[in-house]
Amino acid sequence: MIVTELIEKKRDGLELSFDELSFLVNGFVGGSVEDCQMSAFMMAVCINGMTEREISDLTMIMMHSGETTDLSDLPGVKVDKHSTGGVGDTTTLVVAPLVAACGGTVAKMSGRGLAHSGGTLDKLESVPGVCVEQTTERFKEIVRDIGIAVVGQSKNLDPADKKMYALRDVTGTVKSIPLIASSIMSKKLAAGADAIVLDVKTGNGAFMNTLDDSRALAREMVSIGSNLGRKTVAIITDMNRPLGMAIGNGLEMKEAIEVLEGKVPVDDPLVKVCLVLASEMLLLAGLAPSRADAKGMLVDALVSGRGLMKLREMIAAMGGDVRYIDEPERLVMTSTIMPVYTEKAGYLYSIDARKLGLASCVLGAGRLKKEDVIDPAVGILMLKRVGDRVDPNEPYAYLYVNDDARLEEALGLIREAVTVSSEAPEDLPLVYDIIE
Ligand code: URA
Ligand code: CA
Repeated sequence: MIVTELIEKKRDGLELSFDELSFLVNGFVGGSVEDCQMSAFMMAVCINGMTEREISDLTMIMMHSGETTDLSDLPGVKVDKHSTGGVGDTTTLVVAPLVAACGGTVAKMSGRGLAHSGGTLDKLESVPGVCVEQTTERFKEIVRDIGIAVVGQSKNLDPADKKMYALRDVTGTVKSIPLIASSIMSKKLAAGADAIVLDVKTGNGAFMNTLDDSRALAREMVSIGSNLGRKTVAIITDMNRPLGMAIGNGLEMKEAIEVLEGKVPVDDPLVKVCLVLASEMLLLAGLAPSRADAKGMLVDALVSGRGLMKLREMIAAMGGDVRYIDEPERLVMTSTIMPVYTEKAGYLYSIDARKLGLASCVLGAGRLKKEDVIDPAVGILMLKRVGDRVDPNEPYAYLYVNDDARLEEALGLIREAVTVSSEAPEDLPLVYDIIE
């Protein structure tokens, strides 16, 4: 087979066979297919899509590009969750400890930030000492001891996705149903959980901007999961505005801690979505008879502080300095904290979550190039939500900054991202649909 011919085939909108996809993907992992060739192929997939058969073949090929994890010797139903990627979307750091505090077995492998969206591993690493790269043995030992571990994918888990993901991040090839579905499901399947809850984001800050596209992605992933015997549920949640108030790694870790400390009201959007996701996990794990029971158990874990204890135990088990959990201000020490003001008074009418995520990346919270190093402390703390009144005398956000050279560009993006109006915006649902 000739690589360029396969690229041309997809460029011309044709279907590739299992063997052709395998040749490309395994060649890329092995080094005989170059970055530029894989980028061109993935761009062709972004533009021309893939058939159902190609998507499930691609998922299988990626899943088997490395080792798979066997969790069957751990007790209970192993539940995993995965978000398709959002802004200010700190759900894992809240959901995983709460589910573990309710008796769930959470053996989770997470990812890094992608394009404008944040990643749980980067957030965990905002706590000094945390090592997200654990051996499979140590990973399982932590889960057996405390019921929870959130780590990076083991070195040889889904190497195809590792390489493709890093390349997509910097080549404008993230937004594609076949590429997202195969990326997420190949990892989840390889990581060995029995049940998977997918948080499929929809809106301007998601990779899928319309509800139709998000539904299509959700159905694709649920069908891949069920075909392989894993209980899979997808929840479509809103990403037309940041979910939480914090955007940036240390800031989001701090926000998760504040939620788990009970400092954030249970009707707050971040908390609400966390409770919905965590409830589905308890249901799939057979730990709660109904959604109402699940929610009751989770709220109890929240207000009693048992969720926070789980997070703290996990951070300690992964080598992290728990003083940063006890005093989360330490997570966000920057040289400058700069207030941002609107030009006029009115309602905060809309926020382009993607642009805000990009602004946070520009400040150093995410990668603009593959080799960029993240600054854990920087980012954006929103003080107002969509629908709140704003006034030019009162800041609506604080920027946490260490490198002033990046400030102007970040401010430009934030000004573009935020609109103010004399009219109040319409309320949007937080949860659009649950696909089982
Ligand atoms: N999350 C993933 O793991 N992969 C994607 O492609 C997008 C979000
Ligand atoms: Ca605070």
